[in-house]
Amino acid sequence: MSANPIPTETRTASGAPIELPIKSGELLRGLSSERTLELETLHGNGDLMRALDILGIAGPLRTISPWELEDADGRHLIHAGGYAAVPFGEMYPPLIEFIQSFLTENRTPGLPQQSLSEWRAALSTNLVSLLASQTPSHEESQVFFSNSGAEAVETAIKFAKATRPKSKTLINFSRAYHGKTVGALSLTPNEEYQDVFKPLMPGVRTLPYGNVTALERAVKELGPNDIIAVVLEPIQGEGGVITPPKEFLPAVARLAERYGFLTIADEIQSGLGRTGHWFASLAGGLDPDIITLAKPLGGGLVPIGATIARKAIFQTVLGGLESKRHSSTFGGGSLAMAVGLRSLELIAEKGLVERAREMGGQGLARLEAIRERHPGYIKAVRAAGMLFAIELRHTIKPSLVPGNAELARQLGTVLAIRTMHRHGLHVCYSNNASHVIRLTPALNMPIELFEEMFARLERVASHHRGAWQMLPKTPLRRLWRLARLALKS
Ligand SMILES: Cc1ncc(COP(=O)(O)O)c(C=O)c1O
Repeated sequence: MSANPIPTETRTASGAPIELPIKSGELLRGLSSERTLELETLHGNGDLMRALDILGIAGPLRTISPWELEDADGRHLIHAGGYAAVPFGEMYPPLIEFIQSFLTENRTPGLPQQSLSEWRAALSTNLVSLLASQTPSHEESQVFFSNSGAEAVETAIKFAKATRPKSKTLINFSRAYHGKTVGALSLTPNEEYQDVFKPLMPGVRTLPYGNVTALERAVKELGPNDIIAVVLEPIQGEGGVITPPKEFLPAVARLAERYGFLTIADEIQSGLGRTGHWFASLAGGLDPDIITLAKPLGGGLVPIGATIARKAIFQTVLGGLESKRHSSTFGGGSLAMAVGLRSLELIAEKGLVERAREMGGQGLARLEAIRERHPGYIKAVRAAGMLFAIELRHTIKPSLVPGNAELARQLGTVLAIRTMHRHGLHVCYSNNASHVIRLTPALNMPIELFEEMFARLERVASHHRGAWQMLPKTPLRRLWRLARLALKS
């Protein structure tokens, strides 16, 4: 026990007035990178920040244009990061201008939990109208707003369970990524993330993704009444950009129709343009009962999640006096709704869905050519619209980390991310495929920068001469610190 006197609410333990160490105004002028690193490692997710710093990719980054960044050393970076949640680039002027008008002109409460909200009404109307334009079966659907992808998935799980209360099993798929809150994590079959949190939500049956025979067999074995829902990503993003075989989504639709279970399409990454479709599930032949959305709706700026469900499902959970059974303090907040409304509008106005499809095709051709010229570095490439995957060969030999091939793979990938950074590319790791690096450029990235992005990647591939070469100008000390950090757990 500390011998210090207990502080009062207005004084510190030593009797001095409480003063917060950092002033908000100071931040508008910018904090030095050294100070930011010191504070982040002390009080934030310290080891993550330390690892990024050791790799020399921690930044802080500054935006030069919506599609270009600069690191703390003044290095120019093309922005292909953001985990598919930055649809227009950073601080895209048409979005920012709208937000500025919203902030000065809006007269509605920020968090209208207990009153009507024109912003929430408008966004739910536009989302349902958009969905119904692709499938009239959703004309009467309703939307529940939350604050992240994982929360949108939690909502979907609750909606499905309440609709089929006698059933016990949710079917999910290998390499699925649905988020890291407990329910969503239960559907994300990755030991690295699940391990220490077990037991998780019971009743999850994981099947191989894209395998119709395995699905048919499981449905027969479980029996029609046991299955609550099949939960799937129509294209797996964090799994390494995996598009299932053509027959998969229609088969899910057919089995759901025949046996009466629900279908949930997690379109948090695939939906609203990224993969070249408004809804990848519909494009692939599945008309889901519940759809989750998030990333691009936030315009790269605000957190938002949305769960769209058929009216009968929505009413089962939130009908009549049960309308408070599921709720969120921040969900449906006016700023998030306004940004979502304008983001959706910009995707439509600028034709970004079609652009993602067209540029996605061009980008994949570029990636294929790079892979052909550098097969020793890149094992495979994939794309779904402007969601690009580069599957690396082992960049660190598994024998270098005996007994832990996965750690060797992860180290190899983070070193590759470092090399890409040094060649001017800001890219994404893949949460469920540690050998895959993804490029998720803004859907409106100008063509010259889009091409330069691939030119820089080609330079990375042609400079690659093995793991040690991935640490140019890096003292061995850094590698040692990284290894120590990796082995800590
Ligand atoms: C398909 C999918 N579902 C859910 C999530 C979780 O979203 P969040 O990180 O906002 O919780 C993600 C995030 O990458 C995702 O790609």
